[in-house]
Amino acid sequence: MMRVDAMLSRYGYCSRREARAWVSRGRVVSGGAVVKSVNGKVEPHETLVDGVPIPFVDGLYVALHKPVGYTCSHDEEGDLVYDLLPAQWLNRGDGVNTVGRLDKETSGLLLITDDGSFLHALSSPKRHVSKEYEFETEHPIPVEAVPLFAEGTLMLKGEKTPCAPAELTIEDNCHGRLVLHEGRYHQVRRMLAAVGAPVVRLHRAAIGALRLEDLNLQPGEWVAIDPAMFR
Ligand code: URA
Repeated sequence: MMRVDAMLSRYGYCSRREARAWVSRGRVVSGGAVVKSVNGKVEPHETLVDGVPIPFVDGLYVALHKPVGYTCSHDEEGDLVYDLLPAQWLNRGDGVNTVGRLDKETSGLLLITDDGSFLHALSSPKRHVSKEYEFETEHPIPVEAVPLFAEGTLMLKGEKTPCAPAELTIEDNCHGRLVLHEGRYHQVRRMLAAVGAPVVRLHRAAIGALRLEDLNLQPGEWVAIDPAMFR
């Protein structure tokens, strides 16, 4: 049970101060009855606001098909991935963030959540959640890159430890897939540049067992996911 004003602010409808006006206009219904007071306690699962159930009462977990050209940031110039989500989500008490980032020029699967412990657990290097990327390169991918990436000895400029073993599949001259078990800055682009095959197109196809192609999302679309699949 939560106080009505705390609930409206927690789920991003309005500030606690504004809650009185929402309640007095009869916009909040709980357990079938119009809520009369902001001080009263209600069960969010049983509450409608403007006739609609409160979304993601137990935490927001969403998969987004990130289009090329959008930045994973709350405050940069240009198109932001957060512009693709309902504005109300961004006002949720705990904030809404991407789990890791994709470059502006990378498309593909991006997870979004307001659950800080889910975000940290999934980003933790200890978890080794795999990420699968599809890419196109400017020059042919050298076959030697397959064992080099697999053995975990590739040192990238400015790094203190070699890249962890990664699975590279060459599909044709300039197309391939790379599965990583860690996340370093611009890692896919840097690994392929290091073997003389700079990336010209990059797309994240999967995170762990979650595959973008199974979600049927057009670029810019999102869908709720079950966080239990990552536990
Ligand atoms: N590696 C990159 O180089 N870019 C991304 O966006 C993700 C992984």
